[in-house]
Amino acid sequence: MAINGIKGFNDILPGEVEKWQHIEATARRVFELYGFAEIRVPVLEKTELFSRSIGDATDIVEKEMYSFVDKGENRVTMRPEGTASVMRAFIEHKLHAVDPIAKLYYMGPMFRYERPQKGRYRQFHQIGAEVTGVNDPKVDAQVLTMLCHFFAELGLTEPSLQINSLGCPACRPVYRRALTDFLRARIDKLCDDCKRRLETNPLRALDCKSAGCKEATVGAPSVLDHLCGECEAHFDALRTHLEGVGTSYTINPRMVRGLDYYTRTTFELVTTLLGAQSAVAAGGRYDGLIADLGGPSLPGIGFAMGVERVALLLADREFSKRPDLFVAALGEPAQKLAFGLMCAMQRRGIAVEMDYEGKSLKSQMRRSDKFRSRFTLIVGEDELARGIAVLKNMDAGTQSEIPLDADAVARGMLA
Ligand code: HAM
Repeated sequence: MAINGIKGFNDILPGEVEKWQHIEATARRVFELYGFAEIRVPVLEKTELFSRSIGDATDIVEKEMYSFVDKGENRVTMRPEGTASVMRAFIEHKLHAVDPIAKLYYMGPMFRYERPQKGRYRQFHQIGAEVTGVNDPKVDAQVLTMLCHFFAELGLTEPSLQINSLGCPACRPVYRRALTDFLRARIDKLCDDCKRRLETNPLRALDCKSAGCKEATVGAPSVLDHLCGECEAHFDALRTHLEGVGTSYTINPRMVRGLDYYTRTTFELVTTLLGAQSAVAAGGRYDGLIADLGGPSLPGIGFAMGVERVALLLADREFSKRPDLFVAALGEPAQKLAFGLMCAMQRRGIAVEMDYEGKSLKSQMRRSDKFRSRFTLIVGEDELARGIAVLKNMDAGTQSEIPLDADAVARGMLA
């Protein structure tokens, strides 16, 4: 019996993979314009890295991590996200000693044991970016503007940007208390999960999907009414900078993030086109994380997008590559010559396909159509005898006779 892949772990096949390559290439191009350099970190880390950074009371750490004890009795976890690993590497390699301001981006698979559905998988892929060492809200605005620039470069008008502030260690506890008190008075309506985490993580009730929690949180206190002076000034300045550079946003004071490390600015790029999986990208500030992980006291901010979700938004667009040329040859001597010609053209950087098996001209032309090649070069016995070939421009429907050598074919394709 054939062995199938694991539920929630997907193959990305030719035809679809070109879209992924386009997304990745666009991210590299745009992020590098903003001074970001790529970092590659492992997919396996010590479990403690994630429990300490993402937080023990989060869904990710409580129920979604692929954790196991390896053969050396170490507790390890397949990374559920990238920020913790990137900050671990930043600290471990003392990148801050070279420059406390690091701008890093990464891409690769992440693992969460969630219930798979459209746009939600157990192995999914993120492209993320992180900036360390800057408190100024200009950097928040820059990161958000870069993210919106990326989506604009893909030609997407969805998703749209929502921002919020979650305050800091000075003002968040005050807000948490206000919210906990509010929810405690409505505890009967809360779902079992939200009841259980009322003390550890009351904010989750604000984005809980259960009808009771939705009802219980109507009129709940807003985090934005509880910000301290500094957090309020930071949020106001962020808004001014975004407006100054024309990055549109809406404020969503009920936005809650599923990771505990956030402080101040948080944001999501949301879409209505993907059903329940509305967040295409998300992130925020994590001013305490680097110190919590044993590094210097430096702030940070970043985001990650879900590549599967970006690919779904690009659903109808065609990215598969077309060969420049298909060489159709009839008869053994012509086939041999065509093979040499194909190799010579490929070395020049021209993408060429041919039929290797000596099929009929009709069947070779069908294959050329299937590849959607831009040009087809036909070399029959008659042409071979005359030292020429017929070059067909498949888009224009025109054709011409040209000398049978790589230079002439290349020139003919440019004409
Ligand atoms: P996150 O909100 O957990 O944040 O994930 C970011 C994005 O990854 C989501 O908006 C979504 O597009 C995608 N994503 C998450 N889970 C899945 C899944 N199971 N299947 C498909 N896509 C998924 C983070 O991971 C933070 N590290 C972002 C960040 C970077 N914050 C600061 N810097």
